[in-house]
Amino acid sequence: GDTARREEMLREMGISPLWQLRATAQVEEQADVMTEPADLAASSPPAPVAREPAAPEAPAVQVQAAVAAGSHEPARIAKMDWPDLKSSVATCTACGLYAKRNKTVFGVGDEHADWLFVGEGPGADEDAQGEPFVGQAGQLLDNMLAAIALQRGTNVYIANIVKCRPPGNRNPQQEEAQACSHYLQRQIELIQPKLIIALGKVAAVNLLGRDATITSLRGQVHDYRNIPLIITYHPAYLLRTLPDKAKAWEDLCFAVNTMQKLMH
Ligand code: URA
Ligand code: SF4
Repeated sequence: GDTARREEMLREMGISPLWQLRATAQVEEQADVMTEPADLAASSPPAPVAREPAAPEAPAVQVQAAVAAGSHEPARIAKMDWPDLKSSVATCTACGLYAKRNKTVFGVGDEHADWLFVGEGPGADEDAQGEPFVGQAGQLLDNMLAAIALQRGTNVYIANIVKCRPPGNRNPQQEEAQACSHYLQRQIELIQPKLIIALGKVAAVNLLGRDATITSLRGQVHDYRNIPLIITYHPAYLLRTLPDKAKAWEDLCFAVNTMQKLMH
């Protein structure tokens, strides 16, 4: 019956044992496990070390040296290797977001990953730690990855549209996203992922280069510079809007199927 078919599908997709168990027990509610505390505990990364006090660094000094070297110009960025790209971001003042950041959030993971997940920009936790998706939304993202047998850092890269935190977690403005796009574009050229997953509207519209709703974009394979691009909800949105988790689960299944086709 239905249960058997679903189990078969989950097995074929190589879903983690955690999900398999849950999916068998709660066939109709499989998407719900994405936020259940037990699952968070089971698959969340080790607790972060105590945060350093947010001592303001002295950006002005680093920044002058970097600007003098011209290391934030798009034409230069487009040719950078990983080390230069990382140091360019670390000292960037190309948009106003630099002024209030604590740490830049470059991106993390396998630099030759097949899977690239792109979020919007750092929140408070990411700004403090310098790593993307380490807060609550990040725990959900880790569980979403686990659901399709992926994990942060292994064949997966995670980045954001903007590398510095927009104050108060507002959406990045168009000129901020535009200024920062050169870094993400170079990251993507270096990674050469097989598939990009845009998490949420900000990531989607910036990668697509046009405005649209998530609803109108889901369920299709789009394109970012000849790389297949799939759109789904942002995990922070899913935390607030539980009913849409089932749709996110559909999107993940669609992404897995798409990846399988790309491999053949
Ligand atoms: N939300 C994002 O879009 N990116 C992060 O890194 C964290 C939260
Ligand atoms: Fe530079 Fe991007 Fe930070 Fe703006 S958000 S200062 S473009 S790294």
